[in-house]
Amino acid sequence: MKPLVNKIVCIGAGYVGGPTMAVIADRCPDLDVTVLDLNEARIAAWNSEELPIYEPGLAAVVSRARGRNLRFVGQIEGAAHVAAADAVFISVNTPTKTDGEGAGKASDLRYVESCARFIATHAKGHTIVIEKSTMPVRAADRIKSILASAGPGVTFDILSNPEFLAEGTAIRDLEQPDRVLIGGERPEPIAALAEIYRRWVPAERILSTGLWSAELSKLVANAFLAQRVSSINSISALCEVTGADVEEVAAVVGADSRIGPKFLRASVGFGGSCFQKDLLSLIYISESYGLTEVAAYWQQVVDLNQWQKHRFADQLAAPIATAEGSLRGRRIAILGFAFKKDTNDVRETPAIDVCRRLLARGATLAVHDYKVTPDSIASEIGTQGVEVAATPEAALAGADGVAVLTEWSAYAKLDWARLAGMLKAGAVIHDGRNIVDATAVRRAGLGLRSIGKGERHVR
Ligand code: NAD
Ligand code: UGA
Repeated sequence: MKPLVNKIVCIGAGYVGGPTMAVIADRCPDLDVTVLDLNEARIAAWNSEELPIYEPGLAAVVSRARGRNLRFVGQIEGAAHVAAADAVFISVNTPTKTDGEGAGKASDLRYVESCARFIATHAKGHTIVIEKSTMPVRAADRIKSILASAGPGVTFDILSNPEFLAEGTAIRDLEQPDRVLIGGERPEPIAALAEIYRRWVPAERILSTGLWSAELSKLVANAFLAQRVSSINSISALCEVTGADVEEVAAVVGADSRIGPKFLRASVGFGGSCFQKDLLSLIYISESYGLTEVAAYWQQVVDLNQWQKHRFADQLAAPIATAEGSLRGRRIAILGFAFKKDTNDVRETPAIDVCRRLLARGATLAVHDYKVTPDSIASEIGTQGVEVAATPEAALAGADGVAVLTEWSAYAKLDWARLAGMLKAGAVIHDGRNIVDATAVRRAGLGLRSIGKGERHVR
C-alpha cells in the first residue's frame, strides 16, 4: 500500500524551502506543513509581514496558508514536528566547500549531514526523507548511512526531488513547473510524493528516475543553462570587435527550434548562488572519477564568466583611468547590485566582481538597487569607497562613468534627457544588461557601451 503523506516538514527556510513549502501548503490545504530553520531571525521574519526574501507573489501565497496549514518554527520546536512527519524535505544550503578535501569546488554537505542527524534523532516510525537541496550525485548514500544510526523500528525511504525554480519567478515556476523530478529506489514513496504535486501539476510533467539520475540531472540542468550564458557572452566579445550585434545574432540562432530563444541574453556575466557552485560541483565530481577532459570542458564555462565580468569592469575603467590605470578621484554609479531583477539576493552577483575590480583601482562607487539592503552591499564589497544611493539620481550625480548591472525594469525607463546634466561631461553608460533606452541615451548626448554591440560595422 502507498504510504500516505499528511504531515510534511521542511528543514531550511531559505529561498527554496520557504517559497516551495508555501506553494505546497497553498495548493494542498489538507496537508500540514512545517518549515523549520536554525536561524531564529529568519523564522521570525517568515512569521512577520516583512518576509526575509523578496519574491513577486510570495507574500500573497504565504498570507493565504500561514496560520492555516503552514507554520514556520525554530529548531527546538521543530523536533516534535519531525517526529510526527510522514515526509521531511531537506532544503538547506549546499555551498562550495571553503576548506578540506575539494575546497573551492566540492559542495559542502555539512548542513545536509546535520539535517540527517537531526532526522535520525527525532524521527519515529517510517519517514520519507526528500533531498530538495542540490546535491552531488550519490549524496543520498551519505544521508542513508547517517539515517542508519536511528533507533530500532525507525525506517526511511530517500527520494531526490531537486528544485528548478529561478529567483524572481519562483512562485510562477512552482505553480507552473516545466517538470517536477522525483528520483527514488522504490515506487511507493515516489508515488506518495507525486500524489502531492499532482494536485496542481499535470501528470506528464512529473518525471520519475533513479536516485542518481535525479541528483545528477539537477547539476546538469544548471550547467547547461550557465553554458548558454557563457556561450552567448563569448560571442558578445566577438560581436564587439566585428561590428555584429549580439541581440541580432542571438535572435537568429535562437529561431532554430532545436536551439530555442531562451537564455541567450548576453550580459555582464551570470551570478546567483547556484550556477557557479553547481558547475564547480560537476567539475569536482568529474575530476574525482578521473574524467579530466569532462572537468576541463565545464571549467571553461566558469572561466569565461569570470573573464566577462573583468572585461566589463576594464572597459568601463579604460576611458576614465589615468595613464597608470588608477581610478582615484573617479566616481562610478553602479545601477543594480542584485544578481538579477526581482530579487534581493546578492549571492555571487556579478556586481561583486565588477565593484571589487573598480575599487581595487581606487574608484569611488555610488551603488543603487531597488531591493538590496545597504547591509547586503556592505557585506560583499565593504564600505570603503562605497556609498549606497537611495535613488538612481543620487547614484548618478557627479558620476564619471555608469555601470548598469541588474536589469531592473525601472532602469530601462530612466529619463536620460533629464539625468544627463547630472553626470560629469563625457561620462559613458556601460550597459551590462542591454536594457537602457539607447535612443534616449544618445539623444541626451551621452556615450553608451552595450554588451556585444561594436562601434565598428564591418561587412
Ligand atoms: P538558503 O541559504 O537561502 O537557505 C538555506 C537555509 O537552511 C538557511 O536559512 C539556513 O539557516 C538553513 N539551515 C542550514 N542548516 C540547517 C540545519 N541543520 N537545520 C535547520 N536549518 C538549517 O539556501 P537556498 O537558496 O534556499 O538553497 C537551498 C538549496 O536549494 C541549495 O542546495 C541550492 O543549491 C538549492 N537551490 C536553490 C535555488 C535558488 O534559487 N536559490 C533554486 C534551486 C535549488
Ligand atoms: C537558476 C536556474 O534558472 C534554475 O532553474 C535553478 O533552479 C536555480 O538556478 C538554482 O538551482 O539555483 P537563478 O540562478 O535563480 O536560477 O536565475 P536565472 O534566471 O537562471 O539567472 C542566473 C544568472 O544568469 C543571472 O545572473 C542572470 O542575469 C543570468 N542570465 C540568465 C544571463 O546573463 N543571460 C540569460 O540569458 C539568462
